[in-house]
Amino acid sequence: MEAQNAQRRSYQVVIAATRDMGIGIDMKLPWDLPNEFQFFQDVTSRTSDPRKTNATIMGRKSWEATPLEFRPLPDRLNVVLTRSNCHSIPTDDDNVMVCGSMESALELLAKPPYSFSIEKVFFIGGGELLRHYMNAPSCDAIHLTEVDITVPCDTFAPRVDTCLYHPWYSSLPVVENGIRYCFNTYVRRKDLIFGSGVEAEQYSFLPKMVFERHEEFGYLNLVQNIISNGDMNDNNTLLSKFGCQLRFNLRKTFPLLTTKKVFWVGVVEEILQLINGSTYPKEKGINHICESDKAKEYLDSFGVNATEEDGDHPLLTGLYWSYSDASQEFSQISDVINKIKNNPHDRGITLSACKLSISPCQTFAQFYVANGELSCQIYQSSTEASLGIPFSIAAYSLLTCIMAHVCDVVAGDFIHLIGDAHVNTSHTKAIQRQLQISQKPFPILKINPEKTKIDHLEASDLDLLDI
Ligand SMILES: NC(=O)c1ccc[n+]([C@@H]2O[C@H](COP(=O)([O-])OP(=O)(O)OC[C@H]3O[C@@H](n4cnc5c(N)ncnc54)[C@H](OP(=O)(O)O)[C@@H]3O)[C@@H](O)[C@H]2O)c1
Repeated sequence: MEAQNAQRRSYQVVIAATRDMGIGIDMKLPWDLPNEFQFFQDVTSRTSDPRKTNATIMGRKSWEATPLEFRPLPDRLNVVLTRSNCHSIPTDDDNVMVCGSMESALELLAKPPYSFSIEKVFFIGGGELLRHYMNAPSCDAIHLTEVDITVPCDTFAPRVDTCLYHPWYSSLPVVENGIRYCFNTYVRRKDLIFGSGVEAEQYSFLPKMVFERHEEFGYLNLVQNIISNGDMNDNNTLLSKFGCQLRFNLRKTFPLLTTKKVFWVGVVEEILQLINGSTYPKEKGINHICESDKAKEYLDSFGVNATEEDGDHPLLTGLYWSYSDASQEFSQISDVINKIKNNPHDRGITLSACKLSISPCQTFAQFYVANGELSCQIYQSSTEASLGIPFSIAAYSLLTCIMAHVCDVVAGDFIHLIGDAHVNTSHTKAIQRQLQISQKPFPILKINPEKTKIDHLEASDLDLLDI
């Protein structure tokens, strides 16, 4: 990846496109989005090493389509591809280089002096070149701003090949000049080195400002904050922080954290059991998932005693919901589905596990529909951060995706509000080690499209891809 001695440099594509992958009309961009342009400027100009610059490779027509006041793009080496002697390209400007092919450009950039002076190589279009080089093997990542409009275009980019790339990051939608868009980064799939247990590649080649947008950082920062700045309880067994918020975008990926092993089978079984109306498991005599052998094995692998913490189970805090109250023949789940479908702007689409005597880890969830997307915010009064929070993120994100699926809307955001987020002091060393692990792209959740009724869903209908 970007090796200085390689024969050819690899590169990252940076473009913006409409729903139909339109990128231009009459040699112009089909929109006016100053903040989007600023993102392009930032991604392609910023370097980690202040002595270096980045290179931007573009087709001759894209060079000519760039307004005169912006070209050559400042603080970057502008590499213009042409097969002809084009007079519009200045040959006496140190920031401009003309090449006869993409291959020769990548070879030149791999040799001194460019191998030393150029940090990252970005390929920025246009359409003729993207057709050949967007999904090509040398392309490590694609930064695609998806502009949510359909307008006439005469130049198009190919779609991202999702067999080759998976999403690293997808921003929450932004609205500018009445146009909705989001920033997405796709990274080339990397295989594991079989047998070694070591990742073949890390993703730190991404621009820092994109790398650090991976949503798992929010969780990792929270855990680090609890360990570094948390309040210690009286008997020195728990460190805690009060009033924490995490946010996950469910539109493209599913937030099953990648720096920890999350008990996915347990997540699925727990949510399906609750959807199907199980009340507090012990009351019903149900063999609850957290008491299963699989869960115990999972907790043992972290050296966590499943019975510790005064009944505050480290894995499943907050999940003891009573989704339905059989005695009153009222199902909260059915009520929520009914409101999402028939009264989506209802301001009280809620699920509550709170009873008169409120236990420490009960949960309250609220659903919200806007722009055909379903978001969910939960409040958990107390939860364990190392295992409980990753489990809860997965469980309530799954619940949100399932609700969106059966209501025929798109899953939007999952927001996790936590009252008391804590770690057991005996786990801090193990957690510190986990914090050193690099995150990977989140997996993608597929729900069987044939199953549209919530109580028909089974574990086999919920598939996580790319893990
Ligand atoms: N939305 C976005 O992110 C974005 C980004 C970039 C551009 N654009 C838009 O895209 C449009 C321009 O794109 P386009 O498809 O018309 O043109 P382009 O891909 O930018 O440039 C085509 C030119 O590049 C040269 N070229 C093509 N293949 C080559 C190769 N293999 N080796 C060497 N040179 C090669 C040729 O130049 P010669 O004819 O000189 O030989 C060719 O005419 C504009 O509307 C622009 O605004 C949009």
